[in-house]
Amino acid sequence: MTHLHITTWAVGIILFFVVLALTGKEGKEKAAKITHMVLRLFYVLILLTGLELFFRFYIGAPWSETTEALVKSAGGVWIIAAMEMILIRGKKGKPTFGGWLQFAIALILTIALGFGRLPMGILP
Ligand code: HEM
Repeated sequence: MTHLHITTWAVGIILFFVVLALTGKEGKEKAAKITHMVLRLFYVLILLTGLELFFRFYIGAPWSETTEALVKSAGGVWIIAAMEMILIRGKKGKPTFGGWLQFAIALILTIALGFGRLPMGILP
């Protein structure tokens, strides 16, 4: 399930950039809409695989570890929220700087905790 989680969030982030590239392009409205819908499906998959990891490894674990995993999970949800914010505000032609700032902070936090600190990552 760990690798499934990595796959879902990696594909999700790639799809996010694809939607971004398609948004606002003449004649690509439909492609952008469909890709955005697929991206939303991936949000659900990211959430489900993340929750599965959480319940499997952190229920009954020492408090400090559970707390850290909770912060990591909140970071994951935050990335999803930031991606949606960037896409929707971008589509409406509104400024997206705030969304990008959140995306960057949440991504660094989540990847650092996921790979660097918590024990289930694939890197040392
Ligand atoms: C785009 C969003 C997300 C990114 C970039 C991300 C990134 C990561 C990374 C790098 C890891 C460590 C390697 C791995 O097992 O995949 C990880 C693990 C994990 N993620 Fe996520 N994640 C995201 C969303 C979520 C969500 C929404 C949840 C919970 C609802 C979640 C819960 C977890 C848990 C519990 C682990 C296991 C922690 C461990 O022991 O290493 N993640 N995630």
